[in-house]
Amino acid sequence: MAREGALYVCQACGASQSKWAGQCPACLSWNALVEEVGSAAPPGALAARRNVKLRNALAFETLDALTPAPGRIPTGVDEFDRVCGGGVVPGSAILVGGDPGVGKSTLLLQVLAAASLRGAACAYISGEEAVEQVRARAQRMGLGHAPVKLAAETNLRAIVEGLKRDRFDLVVIDSIQTLWSDQHDAGPGSVTQVRAAASELVRLSKTRGVAVVLVGHVTKDGQIAGPRVVEHMVDAVLAFEGERGYPFRILRGAKNRFGATDEIGVFEMGDAGLREVKNPSALFLNEGDERAAGAAVFAGVEGSRPVLVEFQALVAPSAYGTPRRAVVGWDSGRLAMVLAVLEARCGLGFGDRDVYLNVAGGLRITEPAADLAAAAALVSSALDKPLPQDCVVFGEVSLSGEVRGVSRMDMRTKEAVKLGFARALAPGVAAEGPAFPVAGVARLTDAVRRIGEGDFQMTKPSGAAGARLRARH
Ligand code: TYD
Ligand code: MG
Repeated sequence: MAREGALYVCQACGASQSKWAGQCPACLSWNALVEEVGSAAPPGALAARRNVKLRNALAFETLDALTPAPGRIPTGVDEFDRVCGGGVVPGSAILVGGDPGVGKSTLLLQVLAAASLRGAACAYISGEEAVEQVRARAQRMGLGHAPVKLAAETNLRAIVEGLKRDRFDLVVIDSIQTLWSDQHDAGPGSVTQVRAAASELVRLSKTRGVAVVLVGHVTKDGQIAGPRVVEHMVDAVLAFEGERGYPFRILRGAKNRFGATDEIGVFEMGDAGLREVKNPSALFLNEGDERAAGAAVFAGVEGSRPVLVEFQALVAPSAYGTPRRAVVGWDSGRLAMVLAVLEARCGLGFGDRDVYLNVAGGLRITEPAADLAAAAALVSSALDKPLPQDCVVFGEVSLSGEVRGVSRMDMRTKEAVKLGFARALAPGVAAEGPAFPVAGVARLTDAVRRIGEGDFQMTKPSGAAGARLRARH
């Protein structure tokens, strides 16, 4: 039975209920409601507060007043700075999430070391590792000489007091789930504790102008564990990702009040920590003599940088009743859509065949422009016809089977030329681009025909769809 004043907080989404239930009414997670006490205001406090006269009435400002752009602390790790929007903003709070072992602690230690060597006052507070462990790692990475202040502590009050004693520019808390506040009874890692710790540290960052980076664990379905509320409290949420078995790590912005969220930072994990990959475009290409059937090179853009990456597909007869669809590095819903369009508009049946789609190198592609590359890889595998070695692919596929133009075609083709590619299978409109021959496709059926016949001659788009495309651009 629900006790008076008790609060049941969902450990998955942070919603609170007055009654316990097996399933959270907000996010529908099972067995996620946990009783948490001590988060409600003491009785009488509210009434007392209400009686206090407001001293400062609400003051209004105008939109056209001059506000200087926020200064930034460039940490010196360029890939990290880029994702932050050009350096860390003083007084901001950043949440960095990622799977255990992906390299969050390594990355942030390197960021702190680099920033401290450039003169920023930096502190690393570890709630997970002992000081000796962190120090040993820093020395192994050759960062032992960096003037980073190091502490192992999980008591929130001790941390806040300690951070108030000295002046800091940049502080890393690793991780938010290990902190506990003695103001609350709930255990470390619970929503109440995580929320309390986050709000206290965010307040500290704002009042003292110190940039605070919080490390957050990620649950198996990729959410930053514990409350989404932390994501709302901080100024930026960055995700650190990597496929198991690959050395590449990608830092991606999920939210950023001070910059764009489409930038990625690319790193490679090695013996001496993370190495920045300044020019990632060739990184995800498979070096081979001949392109096999089922492979298509996508000319993508991640943030402000072009990235060329290989899509690999395998379409094989299904041994069992239900055909398998497995996808790595791309959205499975998007794969289902492309398969459905190929089936309905191009007459290619996949109903009795297993389909596997893989983005090489462990990169995760989210651009709609990758539709045509995925489709080309699938068609190439289904027809057992390889694409030309020197051909890149890009274009968005609509449900009607039309291939649409995509943004920044120029950047895509320029990068392709730089890496030795000589033509593209792309929306017809690109045929008007100057130096780069484009085998134009206005509809997905054109792409199927071209791959089937091995016809990659440059043509202008024909028919009504072509005219529409030309008119639009
Ligand atoms: P870590 O930063 O501890 O991950 P997280 O904080 O996200 O849990 O990184 C741990 C992994 O990184 C570990 O599996 C070993 C690997 N690693 C290297 O390969 N080289 C290195 O120089 C370091 C420091 C770690
Ligand atoms: Mg760690």
